[in-house]
Amino acid sequence: MNAAAMRFNQRFAGIPGEPGPPLVGDTFRSLRDPLALVGERFQRYGAVSWARALGMRFLWLLGPDANQLVLQNTDERFANDGWNAFIGRLFPRGLMLLDFAEHRLHRRIMQGAFRREALAGYLARMQPVIGQELARWQPGDGLLAYDHFKRLTLEVGSRVFVGESAGAQADALNRAFFDTVQAATSLLRLPLPGTRWRRGLRGRRLLERFFLPRLPAKRADAGAGDLFAELCRATTEDGQRFSDEDIVNHMIFLLMAAHDTSTITLTNLVYFLAKYPYWQERLREESRTLGSVELEYGQIGMLTSMDLAMRETLRLVAPVPFLPRRTTAEVEFKGYRIPANALVEISPAFTHLLPELWHEPERFDPERFAEGRREDRRHPYAWVPFGGGVHKCIGLHFGELEIKAVLHRLLLGFSWSVPEGYRIRQDHTSLPIPRDRLPITLRRL
Ligand code: HEM
Repeated sequence: MNAAAMRFNQRFAGIPGEPGPPLVGDTFRSLRDPLALVGERFQRYGAVSWARALGMRFLWLLGPDANQLVLQNTDERFANDGWNAFIGRLFPRGLMLLDFAEHRLHRRIMQGAFRREALAGYLARMQPVIGQELARWQPGDGLLAYDHFKRLTLEVGSRVFVGESAGAQADALNRAFFDTVQAATSLLRLPLPGTRWRRGLRGRRLLERFFLPRLPAKRADAGAGDLFAELCRATTEDGQRFSDEDIVNHMIFLLMAAHDTSTITLTNLVYFLAKYPYWQERLREESRTLGSVELEYGQIGMLTSMDLAMRETLRLVAPVPFLPRRTTAEVEFKGYRIPANALVEISPAFTHLLPELWHEPERFDPERFAEGRREDRRHPYAWVPFGGGVHKCIGLHFGELEIKAVLHRLLLGFSWSVPEGYRIRQDHTSLPIPRDRLPITLRRL
């Protein structure tokens, strides 16, 4: 055993766990099927265990109590700089990577860009983009839903966040985001030719070159209502504002956070609605009762069936399946002493499939969120697709607006299906995306 492993074993004395295969640990399994791996370890060791993957040794803290401990974070013992190990070089100083006093300040400033009137403005701005994008969808067999949603959400992001169409740059930008996000789980973190890591760093530079030159004009444009302009203007009551560098870092992180999570949710919603035509028709009928293809801000609350289906989709496929943290001090949990400076991971995706919380957890059953059942209320941290506590997703209402506005229009214009017996399989290299990008048969109504 080498010195590092001995030090590790001393620090984690009394905590169960296993190193996985020599050298690589559980890296390959955690990329192939992380939920099966975590489930197995939970069966064997319970809520706390250590593991090795991606060149790191860390602790899994699993289940709703662990979510509560880490996300509530009384005493500030869990730092979000745990994310640094994965995406620090790619998304430096994104809001999610900041901690404590600094995070509070940045979040307070950013909150201004997510207030009610701003959100209503974003929804109005995204409507024509959604219309134009869906008009390009060609009915027929084999339409790759994931690719189409990725393009659509990037275009929405470019217009609503940046205030311009991604247009000719769409492919390059899309590629840059994709590369930057994919690089998050690179094993080899050296910028060698042909590596994911190098492509990720190049993607990051391209994004910086996109935003920086646009900043002066954006600061000067008092009338612009896009999120970029909102961030330029955002000020706390005591006059604190973002620097140019902050704005670029936040914009890149925000565009990434909004783009991939919404794409994943829309793709999986379309998948479940194809598998369960009863739900597709129920949602379509509900959308028809609104009487217009453009969803208005005040109508969001009327789409109750769509809301159930969205929640269930976020349960079954949590777009951010694992949340890393670093302990700032020793913590006691379930009789174990977790030392300071340990990398820990909680898992919304794992919690969302626990049989003690959810009836037939693998089944698509949106009614489990309906009044009278509300399985999500069995524990305050049972359903956590948006995290919780001070880092809870700042864009959750934005995400909901975008997802519902797109789905509403899709339901009114098209119906879709997948072949009998088809099952989606996710690639877990970074966030979960369908390996085959979800081919569907699309029909115009
Ligand atoms: C279905 C859609 C979405 C899901 C499932 C999702 C999920 C999450 C999760 C789990 C976190 C917490 C991370 C942690 O605690 O470590 C988070 C944070 C964050 N999300 Fe989202 N997100 C979604 C959409 C969005 C959108 C649309 C935006 C931007 C418009 C956004 C921006 C952010 C930001 C800035 C943070 C960091 C907040 C902070 O640290 O204070 N997200 N999101």
